[in-house]
Amino acid sequence: MEKILVLDFGGQYNQLIARRVRELHVFAEIKAYDRIAPAQILEEGYRGVIFTGGPNSVYDSASPHYDPAVLELGIPILGICYGDQLLAWMSGGEVSPAAQAGEYGKTELTAEEHPLFRGVPRKSVCWMSHRDYISRTPPGFCTLAVTDHCPCAAMGDDRRKLYGVQFHPEVTHTEYGGTILHNFLYDICGCRGDWSMEDYAERAVEGLRERLRDKTVLLALSGGVDSSVAALLLHRAVGERLRCVFVDHGLLRKGEAALVERTFRPLFGEKLICVDARERFLTALAGVTEPERKRKIIGEAFIRVFEAEAKKLGHVNALAQGTIYPDVIESGRGDSAVIKSHHNVGGLPAVIDFDELAEPLRELFKDEVRRLGEALGLPHELVWRQPFPGPGLAVRVLGEVTEERLSRLREADAIFREEIAAARPDPMPDQYFAVLTDARSVGVQGDGRSYGDTVALRAVSTDDFMTAAWTRLPYELLERASSRITNEVPGVTRVVYDISSKPPATVEWE
Ligand code: XMP
Repeated sequence: MEKILVLDFGGQYNQLIARRVRELHVFAEIKAYDRIAPAQILEEGYRGVIFTGGPNSVYDSASPHYDPAVLELGIPILGICYGDQLLAWMSGGEVSPAAQAGEYGKTELTAEEHPLFRGVPRKSVCWMSHRDYISRTPPGFCTLAVTDHCPCAAMGDDRRKLYGVQFHPEVTHTEYGGTILHNFLYDICGCRGDWSMEDYAERAVEGLRERLRDKTVLLALSGGVDSSVAALLLHRAVGERLRCVFVDHGLLRKGEAALVERTFRPLFGEKLICVDARERFLTALAGVTEPERKRKIIGEAFIRVFEAEAKKLGHVNALAQGTIYPDVIESGRGDSAVIKSHHNVGGLPAVIDFDELAEPLRELFKDEVRRLGEALGLPHELVWRQPFPGPGLAVRVLGEVTEERLSRLREADAIFREEIAAARPDPMPDQYFAVLTDARSVGVQGDGRSYGDTVALRAVSTDDFMTAAWTRLPYELLERASSRITNEVPGVTRVVYDISSKPPATVEWE
C-alpha cells in the first residue's frame, strides 16, 4: 500500500495534514522527526515525505533540524511553513526574521505555472501564519509563487523533487490547498490512491489484535458514535475478551437504551453489560437545581457504577475509550494522564487499575469516525447520531430533575426529532433537541384555563460545536412540532424556539 510520511516538527496542524492526505485516498503516517532516520524512510518504502510546520526558527541551533541525507534519497519532499524554511535552510537558502510583524491569515498568492500548481489560478487565496520567511531561494530551486511579503512563498527543485510552500495547503482557507496536495501526491510522488477507510479498519484491527493479545478489555459504551465504533473495532480484534458496559442513568432520550441493546446485544451477547442505574442517579439528583452540581453528581455516580461493574468482572487488563482527535487536542492530556486524572466527559474511572489504555480512534476526526463506522457496518441511525451530552437530559431539564419532568421532556424531544426526520429540512441542523424550561405559563385548553410548563426547541448549525448558529428551520416544521407537543404532552402549555447563537449562548441550556 502506498504511504506518505508526515515528518513532525511540532506544528499544530500535523493531524490535519495526515487527514487531508487520507481524504485524497493515500495512507499517511505521522512520525516525530527524531524517531526516524533517512535510511529508514527509504527502507519503509514511503512514496513521499511532508515536513510539517513548527513554532521555531531554523537559524536557532536549538530548533529541530534533520539529517540532510534525506534530500538525496530520491523520495519527493513537500515542506510546509517551518518545513519549507527547513528545506531552504538545509539546501543553502536564506531564512530571515520578518522585518515587520509577519504574515497571518488569508493572503493573495501569485503562482507560476508548475505541476505543483496545476489547476490553481495565477492569483488565489492562501492561508499564512509565519514570522520568518525565505529571503533567498536556495541554489537549484526555482521560486514557484510569491505574496506581497514573501519573495519565495513556494519553491521547487524538480531534479530532486523537493518542494516547499510557506502557506498552509492543509487548511481550508487556502482555496486550492487540496489541489496542491493532490498534485504533490499524484503527479510528483506518483501515488494512485489505493487507500480506503476499509483498509484503515483492517489495519486498526490488526494492530489492536497484536497489542491486546490475551488481554481482557473493558469499554464504556455510551451508544454515541465514537464509543460504538471503538466497540466494533475492538470486537473484531479481541472478540470474546471484550466487555462493554452500558450505563442507563435514566437521563437518556426516548428509545435510546433499547436502541443500544438492539444494536449490540446480537453482536456481544452476554459480554454486553447493561446496568440499570436509573434509581441511583435520580436519588442522587433529588432536590438539586444548580447546573454544575448536577454535572458533578452525575460524573461521580457514573464512576461508581462503572467501578462496581469492573470489580465484578475481576481483573481487566485494558480500558478502551472512544477518544477522538479533537478530544485529544482539547484536553491536551497524554495516555496515562487520562486514566489517572478525573474522568473525561463520558465518565471514566479514576481509581481502578488498568495495565493499559486502548484508544483506537485517537487519530481520527469525527467525520472520519462516521465513515469508519459505515465501513464496519454500524447501522446508519447510529453512525449519523447527533452528539448527546454525557450528563444527558439532566442538563435539559432546568431546575429539579424528577422522573415526571424527565418523561415530559422525553416525549417533547421525541416529537421534535420525529418532525425533523419527517421534514428533512435543508440544511439539516447538526444538533437539535427540546429543553424543559422552569418557566410556567398560562394557557387555554378546551374551554378552560391551564397552567403548565414551557418547552424550548433548539436547533443549531455548526462545524465544530465551539461556535454555532441557530438553524433557520421552516415555520411549518416548527408549527407542527409546537402543535403536537402542546396536544400530546400533558402539562406543556407553551413552546418557544431558541434563536440564540453560540457565543454568547451555549448549545445546551445548562
Ligand atoms: P455547549 O453547551 O458547551 O455544548 O455549547 C457544545 C457541545 O458539547 C455537548 N456537551 C457535552 N458533551 N458532556 C458531553 O459529552 C458534557 O458534559 C457536555 N456538555 C455539552 C453539547 O451537547 C454540544 O454538542
